Amino acid sequence: MRFDILTLFPGMFSGPLSESIIKRAIQSGRITVALHDIREYTTDRHRTADDTPYGGGAGMVMKAEPLAACIRAVLAMPHGAVAGVAPVILLSPDGQLFTQRVAAELAQYERLVLVCGRYEGVDERVREVLIDRELSIGDYVLTGGELAAMVVLDAVARLVPGVIDAASITEESHSDGLLEYPQYTRPAVWEGRAVPPVLISGHHGEVARWRRRQRLQRTLARRPDLLVRAALTDEDRAYLRTLGWCGDDAP
Ligand code: ADE
Repeated sequence: MRFDILTLFPGMFSGPLSESIIKRAIQSGRITVALHDIREYTTDRHRTADDTPYGGGAGMVMKAEPLAACIRAVLAMPHGAVAGVAPVILLSPDGQLFTQRVAAELAQYERLVLVCGRYEGVDERVREVLIDRELSIGDYVLTGGELAAMVVLDAVARLVPGVIDAASITEESHSDGLLEYPQYTRPAVWEGRAVPPVLISGHHGEVARWRRRQRLQRTLARRPDLLVRAALTDEDRAYLRTLGWCGDDAP
């Protein structure tokens, strides 16, 4: 899968792209990341990428021409033999909330074009003409879209086959609407706190039941909103009711 990232600050990506799983995904060719400096598409002597807003107000707005030229140049770049659609996504606090569901949807594409907004925003006309979709990574405002683009890249890349062990994806938090069960590793007793005995009992069935219940318990305590959409069995519901859940009572 290919990620094209359009930014005024390509240097912000060097750390995250050169460590751990993402680094290996790039080295193995499972993902390709191309960074494009929007400033390279300016045409004036000062390489101006932003300007003051019409109508006044604080801050600067990203100019239409360099950003549009950069997006168009990137879309014109061939991507191997695959000529599929590449959605152009603007990272912005106004966008749709980025969730695991959105990550899974984006992982179906061969290519994503991620546009990092800066300053107070981008000229609205570029949004209208060239942006297919806007994503926000949460209800807070960052100094720009770079960290958000990196979050999207990271969450999508790990869903690309071969990037991580497939088993880790199916049981993890959010993939089926439940939070993760607690994990332990050696030593069996740490600062007087023992690992739950069931985990060293060797009973696979018991371990699975305990883990499922931990996930249900934890989701109810921390994110009860997720239970509405979670895939629950009758046994799950019965257990949740013993914990005081009444979420599936008919209105
Ligand atoms: N740019 C600034 N804040 C952002 C956010 N929360 N998500 C995505 N892009 C952003």
